[in-house]
This record gives sequence, structure tokens and C-alpha cells, in this order.
Amino acid sequence: MIPDRIEWPLTYRAKDGRSISVRHSAYGDAPALHSGVLEVAQEGVYIGVEPEGVGDVVAVIERVRTYLTTPRTAQLVGELDDQVVGEVSMRPGRFGRKDRHWCSLGMWVAPAGRGVGVGSALLDAAVKWARSEGFERVVAEVFGSNERAIALYEKFGFAPEGRQKRKFVLPGIGYVDNVLMALETGQGGSGAADAQSPQ
Ligand SMILES: CC(C)(COP(=O)(O)OP(=O)(O)OC[C@H]1O[C@@H](n2cnc3c(N)ncnc32)[C@H](O)[C@@H]1OP(=O)(O)O)[C@@H](O)C(=O)NCCC(=O)NCCS
Repeated sequence: MIPDRIEWPLTYRAKDGRSISVRHSAYGDAPALHSGVLEVAQEGVYIGVEPEGVGDVVAVIERVRTYLTTPRTAQLVGELDDQVVGEVSMRPGRFGRKDRHWCSLGMWVAPAGRGVGVGSALLDAAVKWARSEGFERVVAEVFGSNERAIALYEKFGFAPEGRQKRKFVLPGIGYVDNVLMALETGQGGSGAADAQSPQ
């Protein structure tokens, strides 16, 4: 794992009294990550990835490896009483110097783990990690129909800043917009300086 400045795990108290901890993923999490994301993909209305796009456990191990070995990325897992029930993943912009000041965020909590604070714990940890890495903005994309996720992002200070109309068609719902939600982390601000320095 690439070292960072946070002392993992971060621990939280669930609404029902159970303990929640958030830490970087490890290879041993792959079976739980695989079954969790598959379950969310099968729900069909929350994340873009289709069940067949999830791949097998080996593919999930490969994704864990990529996160563990790629600087300025993170795949954090949320454990509810020691069971991995959710994930948040963070990646910087893909164009290098031009968009290294922001990172994208994707997350899910398996159905059985929802509603007790795991999503909030994951998002809190993800924002702390983004600040510690110096990211100035964190950006999430969310289906316009996903009121729970939008409420979660707003609770952490994310604001809607754009919308692609009718970007997706969801089973039982129909066309939905892709909503961009962003958080200013209060970090950095080196963009103006970079703009004046020769490439
Ligand atoms: C969105 C998701 C990550 C939230 O995780 P969670 O563990 O249920 O979230 P929490 O229990 O921490 O609740 C966080 C906030 O969500 C909102 N929320 C929770 N349940 C809600 C509901 N049924 N309706 C509306 N808002 C709701 C509330 O603002 C809540 O904060 P509060 O409890 O302080 O009021 C989870 O529901 C999930 O994974 N959904 C499917 C996948 C998904 O939508 N991923 C995000 C794609 S952009």
C-alpha cells in the first residue's frame, strides 16, 4: 500500500450501536467486495456497472491490486462489526497536470448494511483522505433518481453543479439525468500558480 497521512482504520459508531471501521482495501476483502458490488449491480438502479461487468473474484483482486499500487488513488472499505459491507473508491483526473487537483468518487453499501451510517462513515473517510492528498475538489456522478445518495452527498457539503439530461435508462424508472456533485475541500489552490509556470 502506498503510505498516506491518515492513521487507519477510522472508526465510527453505527446508529444501532454496532461499530463501523473504514480502512484501505486488502486482497482478503475481494470475496466480500465481489458479492457486495454484484448485489448492488443486480439492483439495477443505483450504479452504472451491470452484473456481467463486475467480473469474477479474480477481477476484483486485480482491482484491489491496482488501487494499492497506484499513487493518489484509494479504495476504502467499510466494515460493520468486522464484515465488509461497502466501498468508496477515489481516482484523480486522468490527464495528469491539467486535472490533478480533483478526484472522482464512487461508492456503494450492500443492501443489508444500509441506513445505519456506513455510507456516511465511508464518505467522511474519503473526504479526509482527499484533503490529506491535497485534492481541491471531489466529484461524484449520481443518477438523478438516487435521492438517498444525493442526500448523503449534500449532507457532506457536495453541491450539484451540472446535469447531463436523460443520460441513462433504468429498469422500472425510465430516463434519468446524470447529476454531477462536487465538494470544494478547501485544500491547495495551486492552479493559478501552475497556469503561469512553463510546461
Ligand atoms: C447511497 C448509499 C451509499 C448510502 O449509504 P448508507 O449506509 O445507507 O448511508 P447512511 O446510513 O450513512 O445515511 C446517509 C444519509 O443518506 C440519507 N438517507 C439515508 N436513507 C435515506 C432514505 N431512505 N431516503 C433519503 N435519504 C436517505 C440521509 O441523509 C442519511 O443521513 P442521516 O442518517 O444523517 O439523515 C447507499 O444507500 C447505497 O450504496 N446505495 C446504492 C448504491 C449507490 O447509490 N451508490 C452511490 C452511487 S452515486
